[in-house]
Amino acid sequence: MKFPERFAALPEYAFPRLRALLDHHEAGGEPVSMTIGEPTHPFPDWVAEVLASHLAGFNRYPPNEGTPELRTAVAGWVKRRYGAVLDPATQICNVNGSREALFNACLAVSPERKAGQRPFVLVPNPFYQVYAVAAVASEADPVYVPATAATGFLPDYAALPAETLDRVTVAYLCSPANPQGAVASLDYWLELLALAEKHDFKIFADECYSEIWRTAPPPGALEALVRSGADPERVVVFNSLSKRSNLPGARSGFVAGGPETMARIKQLRSYNGAPVPLPLQAVSTRAWSDETHVIANQALYAEKYALADEVFAGAQGYQPPEGGFFLWLPVEDGEAAALKLWTQTGVRVLPGAYLSRDTDSGNPGKGYIRVALVAPKDELKRGLIRLRDCLYG
Ligand SMILES: Cc1ncc(COP(=O)(O)O)c(C=O)c1O
Repeated sequence: MKFPERFAALPEYAFPRLRALLDHHEAGGEPVSMTIGEPTHPFPDWVAEVLASHLAGFNRYPPNEGTPELRTAVAGWVKRRYGAVLDPATQICNVNGSREALFNACLAVSPERKAGQRPFVLVPNPFYQVYAVAAVASEADPVYVPATAATGFLPDYAALPAETLDRVTVAYLCSPANPQGAVASLDYWLELLALAEKHDFKIFADECYSEIWRTAPPPGALEALVRSGADPERVVVFNSLSKRSNLPGARSGFVAGGPETMARIKQLRSYNGAPVPLPLQAVSTRAWSDETHVIANQALYAEKYALADEVFAGAQGYQPPEGGFFLWLPVEDGEAAALKLWTQTGVRVLPGAYLSRDTDSGNPGKGYIRVALVAPKDELKRGLIRLRDCLYG
């Protein structure tokens, strides 16, 4: 028996690819990892206490969509953050981190055919890799749309031909963007919503970096929905406690959207989902209800942004990220730069092309490296200075 060809055709995932590039070379210094976007700031003190007081919950199967308390806490956060009113009963579902939801929601809502043809799913290029795999699994064709310096590092979906847009079922948009750090303005969201209304597709807003920002809280898709009065079924929002609360290991996030769309997502999840354990749902309830730890976390990222600005002051092509915790640094060739950096300094970064796809107009990630600002500050400083001196010296 054969394996499905549509998955076999996928490129190797970024991290095994990086290991294959670097691991048979010796590190040229004490290793500093700036590859994976795994937050290392402390999670709130009260996590242990909340977990301990809910241990009995491990004795029970957790509710698939999240407890009513958790969904109400998420609705409260969404109202405070975006001014949007969501019904916790019909519009919010707890998920095991946003990655699984970004995948499963596409399966749940993208139809087999649109306008009598195989559908398209819009994917910014470069991008968080699950979007393309979700499209392929949904039997849609991903359309990779450049999100480069020329377009403000966000995709210009409106520039696609009308006949392409008419076949679109889902458009992914990440803001703040991984890897580029660009933030979609309210106008950007409003224009995208108008495009979605015109061509009848859904926007999948990946907002898991929404609380990691430099100068002002990034506007969200739900905020644009409130402003525009567009059909609530147009927007599906994904967020998570991984970055906001430094709880990537808790595997807890949410997906929110219009009641009809959410009914489809929840239906599929009731068959294939692994609900978040009850003690972790209790932690999540508290986390979405508390802003103090988020503000403390933002202060730590502010120090890291300032450090990066200081180290790269005057470096050609350095653009401070507006949000998220990655630097997207221009180099001649990302793979060659990552290899040079590792063998000469021990600093490990990700070649941009591992996060992007070849298109007719080239590969928009090829001339970049992605640098995660997640290490403790002293280690981060050492790493950034070595990186600057090696690649921009
Ligand atoms: C852009 C983007 N979306 C989604 C995720 C998934 O995060 P989680 O599943 O931990 O919520 C990540 C994780 O790094 C990410 O970078």
